[in-house]
Formats: sequence, structure tokens, C-alpha cells
Amino acid sequence: MGLNLEKTLEFAVRLAYAAGEIQKEHYERRGLVVQHKGIINLVTEVDMKCEELITRAIAEEYPDHEILAEEGTDKKSGSGYAWYIDPLDGTTNYAHGFPIFAPSIALAYKGEALAGAVYDPMRDEMFSGLKGGGAYLNGKRISVSTADNMDHALLGTGFPYDLRTNANNNIENFNRVVHQCQAIRRAGAAAIDLCYVACGRFEGFWEQWLYPWDMAAGALFVQEAGGVVSDMKGKPLDLFGKSICAANPGIHPKLLGLLTC
Ligand code: IPD
Ligand code: CA
Ligand code: CA
Repeated sequence: MGLNLEKTLEFAVRLAYAAGEIQKEHYERRGLVVQHKGIINLVTEVDMKCEELITRAIAEEYPDHEILAEEGTDKKSGSGYAWYIDPLDGTTNYAHGFPIFAPSIALAYKGEALAGAVYDPMRDEMFSGLKGGGAYLNGKRISVSTADNMDHALLGTGFPYDLRTNANNNIENFNRVVHQCQAIRRAGAAAIDLCYVACGRFEGFWEQWLYPWDMAAGALFVQEAGGVVSDMKGKPLDLFGKSICAANPGIHPKLLGLLTC
């Protein structure tokens, strides 16, 4: 029997709420254990707790599915179904008490996202979406904005953790685009940035050096909300391809035309 996608989405939404609750509970807690994965790349005990909760539940419910999560879970199977999990997107924000972060959970089949949930616990905003079934914010259908003039475009982007040593670090793109649009925000959580494109708060978002767990859910929402998603060269998005350009249909070609990678 095939997968019931609506039920699977409900399951993902429940897990995103549960992880978000853990994040809220430990937010700004004194003594939070924070470790360094690199000079500026952090992981907290809450990232680990949330990954454990989400991946354990998925492995129990869908034992034949693959699971790839940021903090180390990499369960293989030949089923074609794969879950991409960022247990806490926005870890730097979280560790500083900057209130933009979320768990991001997506199920894909052969590289194509089918269902996803991203929950911002600080604003109680649940973004969800199903391939062919639309994108939603707290149960209400969302769509991308209609602004098609770069002068009216509020955009999001981000920079990789290795920006000090990686010359291809998006700074030149930022410098080029910031002179051509209304403004750019670097909110620090790519999954939420993509949700903001999907619901029309951002006209567009781009970033290099992302992973499937950052992009899978949010990119699905942008597509389902009527937006355009590609890699930064304009090719169809590859969840393992590291770059993304997601925007409303009017802004996408203009933004893409300004980017190099
Ligand atoms: C990071 C955030 C950030 C983006 C980085 C990501 P993390 O994820 O999404 O906005 O610029 O590239 O790695 O480490 O907070 O899960
Ligand atoms: Ca992330
Ligand atoms: Ca993360």
C-alpha cells in the first residue's frame, strides 16, 4: 500500500511542534550546553535532543525510510523515501537568545520533497506543505508576494560557516544585490527564510552551501505557494546541490541575473 501523504504530513507537523516545544522550554536557559563544530559553528544540547526525538519517532513509524539529519543521523535504505531533518535551524540565533529558529522536517521520494513542516515556536507559526496540495501557515493557505520590481523587493540570504576561508562565500553577491533591491535581511535560519518567501514576507531568498535539511521543506512551500525555485545557476533545484534561489515569479529571473556561484 502506498504512503498516505496527509497522514504523513500530520505526523511531521506533530514532530515539529514537539521539537519546537523543547526549543521554547530551553530558550535562554542559563547553563545551556553549547559546543563548537568549528570556530563559529555551534551545536547545542537542544539540537541533539530534538534530533533524537524526531529521528527516533520516524524510525519507529517508517522503519524502511532513510533519515538524514544535520547532527549525524544517516540511516540508509533502498526504499526511495528519505527524511531530511534540521532539528534546529538557526543554532547561532538560539545560542544567543535571538528568537529566530525552527525545526525543519521534510519527506522526499527519490530527491523530490513530498511533505514538510517548519515550526517557529517563538511566534507559534507552523508552516506546512504537501506536493500538489499547497502550502500553509497555521492551517491557512499561503502564497508568494506579487511585487515584481527589485526596488520593492525585501530579500533574504545567508553566509556559510567557512566564510573566512571560502572565497566563494556570497559576500560579492550580497554586495551586488544590496544595491539593486529594497533591502536584505540575514535572519540566520534558512528554513524560515524560505517560509517567508512562501508567505510573501520576502520577495526572494538565495544562499550557497546549504544542505537538504535546510532546504527541503521550505523549497517545497515556495513552490506550492506559487513561487519559483532553482539553484543559483538557474537549474532545477537539487537538494544535494548546495545552492538555492527561491522567489516570486516576477523577482526570480531578476535576482538570478545578479547572482554568481
Ligand atoms: C544555518 C542557518 C543559516 C545559514 C547557514 C546554515 P544551522 O543552519 O540556516 O541561516 O546561513 O548556512 O548552516 O547551522 O543554524 O542549522
Ligand atoms: Ca540549518
Ligand atoms: Ca541545525
